[in-house]
Amino acid sequence: MFESIVLNAHQQIEVRIMTMKNTVHLLPQTNHLRALHSIIRDKNACQNEFVFYSNQIIRLLLETASNMLPFHPKNVMTPIGEMYEGLESTTKLCAVSVIRAGESMETELRSMHLNAPLGKILIQRDKQTKLPKFYYSNLPSDIDERHVFLLEPMLATAGSALMGIKVLLDAGVKEENIIFINILIAPEGLERVSETHPKIRIVTSSVEKELNENAFMVPGIGDFGDRYFGTTDSGAR
Ligand code: PRP
Repeated sequence: MFESIVLNAHQQIEVRIMTMKNTVHLLPQTNHLRALHSIIRDKNACQNEFVFYSNQIIRLLLETASNMLPFHPKNVMTPIGEMYEGLESTTKLCAVSVIRAGESMETELRSMHLNAPLGKILIQRDKQTKLPKFYYSNLPSDIDERHVFLLEPMLATAGSALMGIKVLLDAGVKEENIIFINILIAPEGLERVSETHPKIRIVTSSVEKELNENAFMVPGIGDFGDRYFGTTDSGAR
């Protein structure tokens, strides 16, 4: 005789992530990571604190994504004449940031990947309708031969993300070569992206509880772009 199991909201999210585990790579929810989130989610965090601690989470995301690139063996001779059996990446990498919030990830990206070109896509979500509008893109000419880190810290309805992904696919990028780098993701948006583009891998540091009726993530973080760049906080995301 089995008892029926009732899952709480967070467990339900975990089950949904498990079913999408080839797509979603959620950073281990360590005490350190939760402490970083506690600083940047605090509505009283000042801009300097917000930037400083967000950058630490961004670094963790980029480290995880970098580890998902293909590698092959590479042996090197150390100064004492011994062989080190190592690895080197076998792929060309570039990053594409979704302006504006995605630009917050560029500094850490540049400090890790010396020769990776950096493309831009300008998409803005309408404050009233919540629908994204595409304005501009400028991508590396050989992007179709590259793995692409798509830099977009917030994913709520996924409208902006899907539009950004379409720009990459139209430029010839292979779906399986896209790694979406994200700080906060809403379950609804996550499902939309993973169902539409099952080969895209997503690296995130938090799957939120839900979207509220205004398409804001709960518990959320506020407007990431405004808080990171020090402009007026005009509402939550
Ligand atoms: C925010 C955020 C994402 C998008 C997420 O950008 O940075 O790009 O909304 O929402 P969605 O998943 O419902 O599309 P916004 O357009 O406000 O611009 P910003 O980057 O300048 O903050």
